[in-house]
Amino acid sequence: MSVIQVHDKKFQPYIGATELQQRIREMAAEMSRDLKDERPLFIAILNGSFMFAGDLFKYLNIPAEISFIKLASYKGTKSTGNVVQAIGLDEDLFGRTVVIVEDIVDTGKTLSQFLPQLEHQQPKKLLVASLLTKPEAMVHPIKIDYLGFSVPNKFLLGYGLDYDGLGRNLPEIYQLVE
Ligand code: IMP
Repeated sequence: MSVIQVHDKKFQPYIGATELQQRIREMAAEMSRDLKDERPLFIAILNGSFMFAGDLFKYLNIPAEISFIKLASYKGTKSTGNVVQAIGLDEDLFGRTVVIVEDIVDTGKTLSQFLPQLEHQQPKKLLVASLLTKPEAMVHPIKIDYLGFSVPNKFLLGYGLDYDGLGRNLPEIYQLVE
């Protein structure tokens, strides 16, 4: 692994593919233990989480369901500001154990808007699994129940994360060279 260029920026290797897979196996093992009798419903937020969600789900060894959604952001009223809306959420969450799967919780804005909408449906449990988080960037504190890695507040690329559309296919995670 060496420095790569995407569009106008350079990125250096940060978390290797083996380390990523090892950590995701550990997360899946922990979730398999905790949720073995719950038949959890995993809801993966596209686009960024598709690789993490796929690997995590593959390593689970309990009965579980998965669904993929997109979040669209639109301008609400003056008092509500920007509002997020889920596209493709067909499941009834009432009484279910739900695990939201995110690639990265950065400022926490997205989930701080989205989680209360899901709470309305009265799931039995609403849990959050995120591969990454940037504690220094967190503005809206989010409780992450299953976390892969805490990372510094620098732009990351790869393993689902993109820079202007590119880089999602990289099997490891890179960090912006500043
Ligand atoms: P939040 O609402 O600020 O928590 O933003 C979360 C979303 O921002 C993530 O799901 C990513 O799509 C995107 N994002 C945040 N940090 C990065 C990064 O370092 N690289 C690529 N995308 C990021």
